[in-house]
Amino acid sequence: MNKPNDLLCHVDADDIDCNDSPNDHFNTILNARLSRRSLLRGSFASAATAVLGATGLSACGGDNGPIDPVPPVSPAPAPEKLLAFSAVSKSLADTVVVPAGYTATVLYALGDPLSATTPAFKNDGTDGDFEQRAGDHHDGMEFFGLTAAGTPSTSSSDRGLLAINHEATTDEQLSSFFLHPTGGTTTLPRPAAEVDKEVALHGVAIVEVKKSGSAWQYVKESPFNRRLTALSDMELSGPARGNALLVTKYSPTGVRTRGTLNNCGTGKTPWGTFLTGEENWSGYFARGADDDAARGNDKSVVALKRYGRSQGARTRHGWETGGSDDKYARWNNSKLGASANGSDDYRNEMNGMGYIVEIDPYDKARTARKRTGLGRFAHESAAFSVPAAGQPLAVYMGDDSRNEYIYKWVSAAAWSAQDAAPADRLATGDKYLDNGKLYVAKLNADGSGQWIELSLANAAIAAYAAYKFADQGDVVVNARLAADAVGATKMDRPEWCSVNPKNGEVYYSLTNNSNRTVNPSGSSQLAPDSANPRAYTDMKGTSAQNGNPNGHILRMKEGAGAAQATSFTWDVYLFGAEASADAGKVNLSNLTADQDFSSPDGLAFSPYTGICWIQTDDGAYTDVTNCMMLAAIPGQVGDGGKVTLNYAQASGATLAVDTFVGKKAAPDTLKRFLVGPVGSEITGIAETPDGKTMFVNIQHPGENTSQANLADPSKYTSQWPSNAGYGAGKRPRSATIVITKNDGGRIGS
Ligand code: FEO
Ligand code: CA
Ligand code: CA
Ligand code: CA
Repeated sequence: MNKPNDLLCHVDADDIDCNDSPNDHFNTILNARLSRRSLLRGSFASAATAVLGATGLSACGGDNGPIDPVPPVSPAPAPEKLLAFSAVSKSLADTVVVPAGYTATVLYALGDPLSATTPAFKNDGTDGDFEQRAGDHHDGMEFFGLTAAGTPSTSSSDRGLLAINHEATTDEQLSSFFLHPTGGTTTLPRPAAEVDKEVALHGVAIVEVKKSGSAWQYVKESPFNRRLTALSDMELSGPARGNALLVTKYSPTGVRTRGTLNNCGTGKTPWGTFLTGEENWSGYFARGADDDAARGNDKSVVALKRYGRSQGARTRHGWETGGSDDKYARWNNSKLGASANGSDDYRNEMNGMGYIVEIDPYDKARTARKRTGLGRFAHESAAFSVPAAGQPLAVYMGDDSRNEYIYKWVSAAAWSAQDAAPADRLATGDKYLDNGKLYVAKLNADGSGQWIELSLANAAIAAYAAYKFADQGDVVVNARLAADAVGATKMDRPEWCSVNPKNGEVYYSLTNNSNRTVNPSGSSQLAPDSANPRAYTDMKGTSAQNGNPNGHILRMKEGAGAAQATSFTWDVYLFGAEASADAGKVNLSNLTADQDFSSPDGLAFSPYTGICWIQTDDGAYTDVTNCMMLAAIPGQVGDGGKVTLNYAQASGATLAVDTFVGKKAAPDTLKRFLVGPVGSEITGIAETPDGKTMFVNIQHPGENTSQANLADPSKYTSQWPSNAGYGAGKRPRSATIVITKNDGGRIGS
């Protein structure tokens, strides 16, 4: 398939789809006025409330250890104070900045070998074997402890496995140019060798890390090291397994598929496995220019368009043009075969992507399982409710595209503490992630909200005029359409979510939305509403950033039933803003120069210190500062108050938007902790259980470098991490860093 090159170039990784379904936002508030006060009184009696403590070190040896007859006398340690570090200033330097008293070291970068026999990374575009090397664009990440004997441990803080998402590549005109010697082919067809390399750069890595002395290193020859790529065999699990929508030439029974792609946020199950979210996969699949007619304009065309694939749409890399081999053909999602069910082509291939995928990090022999029950969309993280024995587990999730939705999964099975260390981890995943209910969120203007179940039992879904759902497998595969049918609330790009271990409240990064406007026109623009209340202009030099360019962080408190609640209350924990912005309209959280940020993305509560870590993936404030990570100690839903924002509309009318703003930031509740190198996004966070080692990912430094400047390193917008003394060559590389505190204390103290 050849298409004009101008349709295929300049594919923007951030050119996210947009939900233009006709759902109301807060235009119709049907809810009877609920007493906000009574909702806020809802308790979490069934949820565990204790924050997991630091390691309890005994003065004596263990059962078999020597007992020191005269324990050494040391002064009592000073009580720990969190956020005691000095805030890091905003920075445009090509380096990682952390507070005084902390050290950040590069641990594991793009191309690093993951086996004893893989050669060192030359970083000149000639390297191959990426099935045995670190992938690109490090993103979400989780730590899984290992004992000295190499068995799973929830307490080990000196040895473990990092499960790391390798989301994407730094591209220009189809090609991941830093990975090819002279920049790669920018026209179609793409050479097979370049496609093979790019496919292998995507996916997930499991890599062993170990502390020797005070220094951490990754273990190149570890038998645990593993790569999953965009071609790895995967099992489909849950309600859509075997569904007609998943039939392909590769799996005529619809139970398997190949590859995981655009792995973004993560999750860690209470039974010790890794969850990875598939985000911007849609743009990798081709459709012929006449595919709508080839499909007889059936309902699959509706679904393909809703997931961002109109016929003839350009693809990000042109992988479908790599050759006649099936591994290239599978990227062409067109109806090409004569079969009625799709068993002779890849017309259904896209339906195999877009899930939360469960991987057993400890056992590389186990095939990953795509958990279809948790819905198919642009997944970010998957955050569990605080497990409570005898109660179902909730998994909170977001769909990151403009105007998309917030979801939760509730397991049918009640949590059993015995499942915290099961013999078969993936079978435990089957128990909690294959049977349950999927819900979508509707947020009301009075600070309340509902979880609406996505099920054919809901008449709005069963009778949806735009798309006829066949069964529950169809509902989860086309979760966006089901959510449209029930009138879910369109949000400002839901990124990561995380649960506060202290009180079970759920936090969502809403990173930004350029389509939020006071005078909307067309179906993709939206007026500000209570949960997405800002529409304003922020200048970046002479360029106007419109909509909600700085984003905000929403939080929700479940009502009766906790994890299985069908109602909740919400407020906005923090609004991203420049410190100098109007405090009455934009800087509503009163951020100071030590706190101001834009476009929150990664967000994770430490289960060890309770700190809420906020990471940014920004383009609006990057004239002033590179992306960053902040440490926060939040309060709770309802600790602030109601604010009304008045907007003058073109008609002359005033649009009054009520919102609920959390307690304003203070110096001891929010502080900037880290700023990254030029062009990077800060994302991914993992800690050792003692809270003393933190792993953070630096994604795509130098991403604004032009391919035309590939031969001249002085023109790279970043040379990190080579300028930090790490590795060969000067091409910038995504990397994992390790952060420790020089006095041995916990990170964030
Ligand atoms: Fe991969 Fe929405 O961030
Ligand atoms: Ca600005
Ligand atoms: Ca992200
Ligand atoms: Ca990114």
